[in-house]
Amino acid sequence: MADYPARCWYMAGWADDLGERGFTREIRGQRLLFFRTSEGVAALLDRCPHRFAPLSMGSRDGDRVVCGYHGLAFAPDGQCVHNPFADRIPAGAKVPAFCVVERDGILWLWGGAREEADENLIPDFAFVPDTPTSRTVRGYTLMQAHYEYGTDNLMDLSHIEFVHKGTFAGQGVIFAGQHKVRLEGATLHSDWWMPGIAPPSVARGHVPDGALVDHWLEMRWNAPASMRLMVGVCPHGAARETGFEVPQAHILTPANDHQTHYFWSSTRYDALESAEVDAALLTLFGEAFDQEDKPMIEAAYANVGSGGFWAEKPLSLGIDQGGTRARRLIEAMIAREIH
Ligand code: FES
Ligand SMILES: [Fe+2]
Repeated sequence: MADYPARCWYMAGWADDLGERGFTREIRGQRLLFFRTSEGVAALLDRCPHRFAPLSMGSRDGDRVVCGYHGLAFAPDGQCVHNPFADRIPAGAKVPAFCVVERDGILWLWGGAREEADENLIPDFAFVPDTPTSRTVRGYTLMQAHYEYGTDNLMDLSHIEFVHKGTFAGQGVIFAGQHKVRLEGATLHSDWWMPGIAPPSVARGHVPDGALVDHWLEMRWNAPASMRLMVGVCPHGAARETGFEVPQAHILTPANDHQTHYFWSSTRYDALESAEVDAALLTLFGEAFDQEDKPMIEAAYANVGSGGFWAEKPLSLGIDQGGTRARRLIEAMIAREIH
C-alpha cells in the first residue's frame, strides 16, 4: 500500500452503518469487515487464513467472528481463538486487524500499525452528530476515480460556476472573490472570500431582498482527503458572527486505485424536525454530487493515461493550487514513510 499514506485516519463509514452485523468495505485495495464489540469497533481483513472465505459470510459469537466455512473463530485483535477440529490453534492462525476509532459519528481507520495509532490526528467533525440545536443530513456515493481527483475538485470550488449551474448556481460569485491557499501545520486551507455580492442561493430567506452580502467558502483539508467546508454568509461589511454558516463534511476514502468512497454531510440549525427540508437537501446534494461532480470527475479520470496525473503535464491556472498542494503533501508523507 505504498501509494497511500499510513500516518493518517481514513473514514471507513458512518457509525450508524455498523448496525447489528457490521459491514464490509474495500479500503486501499483491501476488503475489511467492521463490527461492534463490547470494547469498541473492530476491523479485520475479510478473509479467513484457512481457505480464504470472507469472514463476513460467517457469524458472531459474542466479540468473536466465526468463519462460515469450517468454523475457526477469531477475536477482535485477529487472533484465532477456537479450532473446532482440535484443541490446538494452528501457528499463524491470525487475521490482520486494524485500529478503528469512533468519533463524531464517524468510523476512522488508522492507516498504519495499530500500536502507532495517534488519535490526535483525527480531524474535527464535531458538527456531524445531531444535537438539540442542529440537524445533519448525510450521504454517500462511490466514484470511479482515484481519490486525488476528488480532492482536486473539492479544493478548487471555482468549478461551482460551471459544473453546478443546475444546483448551487454560482452566478459569477467566484469571479468576484479572492482565493487563498495556506498551510497550517499539516492542515491545508483553500478559502474563497466574496465580499459585497448579491446573495447566493444558500442565503435565500436569510437576508432582505436587494441587500448585498459577504460570502465565504472555506475548505479545510487533512490527509488523506478529509475535508470540511464552511459555507458562510453575512450582511455586507458586518461581522461574520452576525451571519450564518453551514458546515459540511466532504470526506474521500480510496477504495482502491480507481475507486473512491465519497461521504458527505450538511448541517443546519433551523427547521430541525422537518422531513421536507431533509428531503429537499438530500435531493439538492444528490443532484450536485452524483449528477454534476461525479460524471465530470470520472470522465476526467478516465482521460488520464496509465502514467498518472503528473505524466500528463496538467496546466496550472492558480485556482487549482489547493488540490496541487494536497497532492504534494501526500507525496511527501509517502516519501517520509518509505524512507
Ligand atoms: S475457510 Fe475459514 S475455517 Fe476454513
Ligand atoms: Fe462540486
